[in-house]
Amino acid sequence: MTRKGIILAGGSGTRLYPITATISKQLLPVYNKPMVYYPLSMLMLAGIREVLIISTPDDLPSFRQLFGDGKALGMSFEYAVQKEPRGLAEAFIIGESFLDGSPSCLVLGDNILYGNTVGSVMKKASDRSEGAIIFGYPVKDPRRFGVVEFDSQWNVLSIEEKPEQPKSMHAVPGVYFYDSQAPTLAKQVRPSQRGELEITSLNQMYLQQKKLMVEVFGRGVAWFDTGTHHSLLQAANFVETIEERQGMMIGCIEEIAYANQWICSDTLLESAKKLGRSTYSDYLKQIAQD
Ligand code: DAU
Repeated sequence: MTRKGIILAGGSGTRLYPITATISKQLLPVYNKPMVYYPLSMLMLAGIREVLIISTPDDLPSFRQLFGDGKALGMSFEYAVQKEPRGLAEAFIIGESFLDGSPSCLVLGDNILYGNTVGSVMKKASDRSEGAIIFGYPVKDPRRFGVVEFDSQWNVLSIEEKPEQPKSMHAVPGVYFYDSQAPTLAKQVRPSQRGELEITSLNQMYLQQKKLMVEVFGRGVAWFDTGTHHSLLQAANFVETIEERQGMMIGCIEEIAYANQWICSDTLLESAKKLGRSTYSDYLKQIAQD
């Protein structure tokens, strides 16, 4: 069965703006495009065309306005509400009917992965039919994240959520590939001490079944969880540096759709036209002409 994607772009975590009116964090710009473009581009690199976007009742209409039915990208988008931020694993309970027995890939709306191996790693993970595949990424302070521990043969020994004393330096980025069992298992997850259905608990279930694979990203790959002011700025600076230097965009969803042959150059030009005068629009025009 074809793998489907879920983008979780709801509430929780630190507010990035000290105001009570809601501004969806995942629609804030990371340099020159909305944050959510980056995780969406990861799904697209994995070859995933059917996507469910989950967000808060207040923010969901903005996502719908942005992506519509997905035709402009040669994709199909559906939308669902998460009323309260009850945890990442809830995505599979909300998304069960959308998935309808398909394997899935969940991406968090505030995560960015970039590097020349990322596309092929995503594709390879997507092509596996059984079990779960998650990723490990070395960070200086893993306490803010899910942390995965390995033996000397890189077999997974444990996975813990935000441990006080991490057993390794390997954090787990917010990109998770699962087989069709994910919704059934997610329903068995019990709330953690912080009251959330943790994605780490779901991963622990796959680990118990000996069906959890972890791919480790090494040097040359950049991962940002843009959930804090500091990391948001770091990510924006990173994107600006690479794009300015190479003249190629990171996370340009129309470009990936075109490269995947999901849209033709006319559709690309139509999107460019709709975007009016912007460097993003100029970039799309340039790609359509190349
Ligand atoms: O970024 C990777 C990390 O993401 C992983 O290493 C952790 O294992 C995982 O638990 C998660 O940790 P965070 O503390 O970063 O999760 P946070 O609560 O900040 O939520 C991540 C994003 O998902 C954020 O943009 C808000 C959204 N979210 C979160 C929850 C709990 C939802 O849409 N719904 C939710 O119920």
